[in-house]
Amino acid sequence: METTATKRRDNKKSLRVKVISLGNAEVGKSCIIKRYCEKRFVPKYLATIGIDYGVTKVQVRDREIKVNIFDMAGHPFFYEVRNEFYKDSQGVLLVYDVGLKESFDALDSWLGEMKQEMGSQANMDSIVFVVCANKVDLTKRRVVDEGEGRLWAESRGFHYFETSAQSGEGINEMFQAFFSSITDMCENGGKRPVSEVSVGFTKEQADTIRRIRNSKDSWDMLGVKPGATREEVNKAYRKLAVLLHPDKCVAPGSEDAFKAVVNARTSLLKNIK
Ligand code: GTP
Ligand code: MG
Repeated sequence: METTATKRRDNKKSLRVKVISLGNAEVGKSCIIKRYCEKRFVPKYLATIGIDYGVTKVQVRDREIKVNIFDMAGHPFFYEVRNEFYKDSQGVLLVYDVGLKESFDALDSWLGEMKQEMGSQANMDSIVFVVCANKVDLTKRRVVDEGEGRLWAESRGFHYFETSAQSGEGINEMFQAFFSSITDMCENGGKRPVSEVSVGFTKEQADTIRRIRNSKDSWDMLGVKPGATREEVNKAYRKLAVLLHPDKCVAPGSEDAFKAVVNARTSLLKNIK
């Protein structure tokens, strides 16, 4: 016979959580969930109409977690349906297609929509975010590289995974990390554990790397006006070198950014008397 003590212990061990999926239409949100829950891939595009709901049970350490998954439609048309479902989420899957830059650029506006709909409840520190760079199997059409995606995610304290719903790459690892972080957060009184938030690099470093990646020429990269003097170029270079030197900066993409800055300085100095 089950004792009260056993029941109490079992209650403590089981946990119910709510997760949602976000991202542009057709990036693969439903397929990622299907790959994990049903171990299969559907090549034909079947747009989610409003919301799909499902429940799955997972085991994290000694706890059984009942996960309620709300798979959102990405199409703007379904905004009115989606907005009801943001509240009370403990986990968010943010998905983009590595072959579509606009789906990556849209991640900020997805976070914006979420914050707006959650209103005063919008405490983003009490939610675990996982960014899925999806469709990595389609290597030839890839336009958003790993460094760029990882930097966006990790500079916000989010997890980053490269996934393919088609091949299954990264899917189980991603969900395991996702559920285990949600469990850690629940056991930590609803706060994301500090170790995940501190990523070892600063926002200034992340923003600078992003700015360097998007710069249009060498002047722009060094942050000086076209026609700047040698002295101005060298001063700007020194500042960036201190910020991004690979010995000091562990942010994803810092090495490439540092090399780009060195090259930009060399090419500018060649042409300045
Ligand atoms: P909405 O429900 O409209 O928001 O779209 P969604 O993000 O749920 O996209 P869905 O999962 O329906 O997938 C869209 C299309 O991309 C489908 O044709 C899938 O077969 C395809 N797809 C999804 N994931 C992958 C992947 O990892 N690799 C490849 N090659 N195709 C994928
Ligand atoms: Mg869908």
